[in-house]
Amino acid sequence: MKQYNNGEFRKSDINKEYTVYGWVNKRRDMGGVIFVDLRDRSGFLQVVFNRSFLTDDFALAESLKNEYCIKVTGELIPRTDDMINPKIPTGEVELMVKNLEILSECEVLPFNVYEDKEVSEQVALKYRYLDLRREKLQNTIRTRSLITASVREFLNKEEFLEIETPILCKSTPEGARDYIVPSRVNKGSFYALPQSPQIFKQLLMVGGFEKYYQIAKCFRDEDLRADRQPEFTQIDLEMSFASQEDVITLVEKMIKHVVKKVKGIDLKDFPRISYKEAMDKYGSDKPDTRFEMELLDLTEILRGTKMNVFNNVIESGGIVKCLIVKNNGDKYSRSDVEHLTDFVKIYGAKGLAWLKYDTDTFNGVIAKNLEPEKLEDMKKTYNIENNDLILIVADKKKIVYDSLGALRLKIAQELNLIDTNKLNFLWVLDFPMFEYSETEGRYKAMHHPFTMPASIENLKNDKENVLSIAYDIVLNGYELGGGSVRIHDPKIQKVVFDALELTEEDIKNKFGFFMDAFKFGAPPHAGLAIGLERFTMLLTGTDNIKDVIAFPKTQSASCLMSEAPNIVSASQLEELGINLIEDENDNID
Ligand code: AMO
Repeated sequence: MKQYNNGEFRKSDINKEYTVYGWVNKRRDMGGVIFVDLRDRSGFLQVVFNRSFLTDDFALAESLKNEYCIKVTGELIPRTDDMINPKIPTGEVELMVKNLEILSECEVLPFNVYEDKEVSEQVALKYRYLDLRREKLQNTIRTRSLITASVREFLNKEEFLEIETPILCKSTPEGARDYIVPSRVNKGSFYALPQSPQIFKQLLMVGGFEKYYQIAKCFRDEDLRADRQPEFTQIDLEMSFASQEDVITLVEKMIKHVVKKVKGIDLKDFPRISYKEAMDKYGSDKPDTRFEMELLDLTEILRGTKMNVFNNVIESGGIVKCLIVKNNGDKYSRSDVEHLTDFVKIYGAKGLAWLKYDTDTFNGVIAKNLEPEKLEDMKKTYNIENNDLILIVADKKKIVYDSLGALRLKIAQELNLIDTNKLNFLWVLDFPMFEYSETEGRYKAMHHPFTMPASIENLKNDKENVLSIAYDIVLNGYELGGGSVRIHDPKIQKVVFDALELTEEDIKNKFGFFMDAFKFGAPPHAGLAIGLERFTMLLTGTDNIKDVIAFPKTQSASCLMSEAPNIVSASQLEELGINLIEDENDNID
């Protein structure tokens, strides 16, 4: 078996014989002497093939190519002063090879493994096993492993039990589309892959385990983004006889433990803000607090203005908010601001009003139309100074938050305002119980329907304002995880289902077995789940979720390497009792 890590040889190890294994990362043929950087997962060791030391035929060494997998035995010697490479940890030594054994040859490579050069995603994913050999992915996947190991270490010490829950199950309540799997023995019936272990972990609490966790695979058929994959992993936990405070305290301690292990950093206590404050200040329930530039309210200042764009919105119950881009007004030309206007339109804003303050005066179209006392009020209230740019959106609350929240991030990126070394964790609390779905024309549970409402009095009459006992953990503008105190009292659950306008039949079909369990002495419980990929992304500094998954899927949820999903044979379909409807497009050519 392999005994040594190539990257760990030092001067103190010289004058001994070693057998090392690895891949030919790069070779340099100096005529009579061949140098090879022999790579394994720990790094490189320079191995030297010299005609006069090698007992094998030198032609064998000459036949080596990049990514050949080899075994060499030889003596570790110090490098001569002119050959020392201070840039690599093994730069003071080299192995003078006596024996070479080629374990595996390598064909012409689709890309060089040793180079850090970008390869097209198509090619990199098709040959993922080669991409995985590269330093970047070796590091991210190792960090991922270190994170799960530290999570287990922490939670085991806290007396949590690691328990697996089923993959073939019934639909779960997270609200995305399910992946479904046909049943052969029960033709016409389907399993749903779990969107999370939510139902099962609650049933484990009913089952008396008190403290559960799982590094759990979850599946969601939803639109993919840079931080979303169809199958992903949660650090999922649930605790009985625990309050919101208990979960938050435990999870914060766990995150601090993991970050210390992975990055060697001691984190300070995480700030906490309410959902309302997050929306008001940042236009987002997952604010990036690494920079300021908060959303500032202009509704009261502009109330009663003659400018209809603002007045009409305010009169009809909307709001006006702005961003003040401090001391960077000169960076934005008129056409730049037009681009920003196009950007906010994506989020439903009708336009973006702007003002510049320079040489002690307001400039811009609205500066001419807005009453001087309103301008003065704005200036005083928000300490507007020369070279400030003020960007204003007036609309319904949601549109103002969405558009200015996104604009805030865009401008921070454009102006390089974000300190990328920071890890800003933040708890967001007091989420609304419901959110209105424009598409479905009804209120839906913002978290999931088993979340405990903060009070049950106004559940029916004031859905807009009822809060839940739900919390999110946010890191650098990403929703890292979320959880809640659960309803364990069937009477409260019934009120919530009623408020969600679920019929008895809906409830029975979807969650009947689950509701039954709560009739048998269910303990109060609460929990949370953290997205493992997002956590790894943020700790490794990548913004692409594919970088932290060994075998990720593309935007269209396929695997370019294994070519999944794929067709299945007619006999498999027949066995499952499935008849495919022919796709019209198939007949076109
Ligand atoms: P939620 O749906 O908020 O909560 O998910 C928890 C966390 O999982 C991660 N996540 C994803 N990561 C990658 N790709 C995806 N498609 C994806 N979807 C979600 C996010 C998110 O914050 N059962 C509840 C938790 C609970 O209440 O205990 C749940 O699943 O980081």
